[in-house]
Formats: sequence, C-alpha cells, structure tokens
Amino acid sequence: EEGLHPAKYPWEHEKLYKTFDHGTLRRGFQVYREVCSSCHSLSRVPYRTLVGNMMTVDEAKGLAEENEYDTEPNDEGEIEKRPGKLSDYIPNPYKNDEAARAANNGALPPDLSLMVKARHGGCNYIFSLLTGYPEEPPAGAVVASGLNFNPYFPGTGIAMARVLYDGLVDYEDGTKATTSQMAKDVVEFLNWSAEPEMDDRKRMGWKVMAVGGVLFAISIWVKRYKWVNVK
Ligand code: HEM
Repeated sequence: EEGLHPAKYPWEHEKLYKTFDHGTLRRGFQVYREVCSSCHSLSRVPYRTLVGNMMTVDEAKGLAEENEYDTEPNDEGEIEKRPGKLSDYIPNPYKNDEAARAANNGALPPDLSLMVKARHGGCNYIFSLLTGYPEEPPAGAVVASGLNFNPYFPGTGIAMARVLYDGLVDYEDGTKATTSQMAKDVVEFLNWSAEPEMDDRKRMGWKVMAVGGVLFAISIWVKRYKWVNVK
C-alpha cells in the first residue's frame, strides 16, 4: 500500500546551476551524528569524503579518532584495536542486524547512505516522513502496537518514532534548529551521501554544453561553406 504522496519542495541543491551548500551539509551531518547515527548506519561514507565538503582535515581526523577499528591480523593472526583514520568508514551503531532489530522492536533501521536514491520520492519523501508525524493518529486509524502512525510511510505504521523536535541540536552557525530546518539539512546531507558526484556532474554538464555548442556552430558553418556553390 502506498503512503500519502509527499509535497514537492523547491530543493536548492537540485537546481542545475546550484551545488550542495556546504553550510547545509555541515548542519545535516551534525543532525545525522547527533540524532540518526544512534540507530542508522552510513556505511558507504568514509571520513575522508567529509573533508572540504563540510569540515577541515583536522576536524574529520578528530571525528575518525573517536572510534576504534580492528587492525589487520599480525603475523600471529592477532587482531588489535586502533583509532580510526580518514580512510575509515563511519561505523555502524550496532554489531549486526540481529542486534539492530533487538534494539528496535524487531525492525531494522536501514543504512542511510543511498536512502535518497532508494526510496520513491527521494528528498521530498524523507523530509515529509521526518516532519509528518501527527500528534495523534487520525480517528479510525489502526496502528499496530510498537508502530507509529506516519501517513507518508507505505502502510502508515512505521517502527521509527518521531525523532526531530524543535531545538534538538545546537547549530554552531546560529541557524535556528526547528524540526523542518533539521529535516531539510539532514535530507540535503543524505542526498550528498547518495550522490557525492552531483556537483562534478553538473559542472561537467555545463562544459559539455559549452564545447558541444561551439562544435555544433562550427559544423553548421562548415556545411554552409561546402554547399555554397550548390544551387
Ligand atoms: C527507518 C531516516 C533516526 C529507527 C527510516 C527510514 C528513513 C529514516 C529514511 C526508511 C523509511 C522507509 O523505509 O521508507 C532517519 C533519519 C533520522 C532517523 C534521517 C535522523 C534524523 C532514527 C532513530 C531511530 C530510527 C534515532 C531509532 C531510535 C528507524 C527504524 C526504521 C527506520 C527502526 C525502520 C522502520 C520500519 O521499517 O518500520 N529512518 N531515521 N531512526 N528508522 Fe530512522
């Protein structure tokens, strides 16, 4: 069963002549870290990719070092722990899927790396989902125990409760952390994680159009030049 169709929002970063806003990405990653990361993994994102897009090298190194990773086995086959480095990936909150389900009433919080591409409706859907929990389910709605009513979720009963509330995080750039601001920021961040190459693709697209346009104009001129004697 389909959920309620999300509204279409005018995402700045989707415009052809716009790129991801680095301030937004920084805030969105903060929301992921402080809110979503307790349940959702982001397994395709290494710390190094954050550098230059939303933080400095030293900041990313510092974050990576907060986690421990396994070393390669040594000659005796022993595996030890070492602090994270830039080439490491953002760690999973749970040891495995069983542990994740056990902590979430049987439901599995999906990896968020590609979620914007994986779900029909993309940014609009995730924004609507995060901001679309009513205070009470509508009269007559049947919500199974352990589930939460959300009209945008297919089936309307979702294991994830509302997670965003006004003022939940403290943005260092002074942006007011309303529910919708945090949802917008984290969605743009998740679009970046799903399509980190988007900015390059747009820039390349403009170059292809520019060079292609010039070549096309030349080809028209050559064609006319060659045919000029033919009546
Ligand atoms: C599912 C996003 C925080 C637990 C989902 C889905 C998205 C999402 C996009 C998939 C919905 C679908 O399948 O269509 C987020 C974001 C978060 C966040 C952006 C932070 C702002 C959390 C937290 C928890 C959680 C903190 C745990 C306390 C779950 C669970 C599901 C889920 C259990 C599976 C729901 C089901 O299949 O019924 N989340 N989430 N999420 N999330 Fe989150």
